[in-house]
Amino acid sequence: MIERTFVMIKPDGVAKGLSDEIIARIQKSGLKVVSKRRVRMDRKTAERLYDVHKGKEFFERLVNFIISGEVFVMVVEGERAISRIRELMGPTDPAKAPKGTIRGDFAASMSENIIHASDSPESVKREMPIFF
Ligand code: CMP
Repeated sequence: MIERTFVMIKPDGVAKGLSDEIIARIQKSGLKVVSKRRVRMDRKTAERLYDVHKGKEFFERLVNFIISGEVFVMVVEGERAISRIRELMGPTDPAKAPKGTIRGDFAASMSENIIHASDSPESVKREMPIFF
């Protein structure tokens, strides 16, 4: 099934100059970047994006980090796009992310983990309209 998913290169990915490399990996995997925008989020938008984590110990840290610099927000399309991007990305904790995944190769910590992608069709429906 052809799906669309929401992907974001976080401020650490942009600051480390990894945007082109990450987009190339997405395209080489056969997925298409159909829209892309560079944005600096305000606090309200970041809190909306991460609404499901409100109340968790790391929420403030996460929001502060995501508004600390520019991000790339993208719409990615292709066969099983939601799960395929998550395979390319690797798990949240970089210590558990295999080499060859984006987080395994570049992420520094749970907070500074380079990239976000929606984890389900429901998350796509909630996250994508915030930016597109
Ligand atoms: P992301 O895919 O953007 O979705 C939620 C984010 O919360 C996750 O990536 C991590 O960056 C962040 N996160 C999850 N758990 C922790 C944690 N224990 N400490 C800091 N950040 C976390």
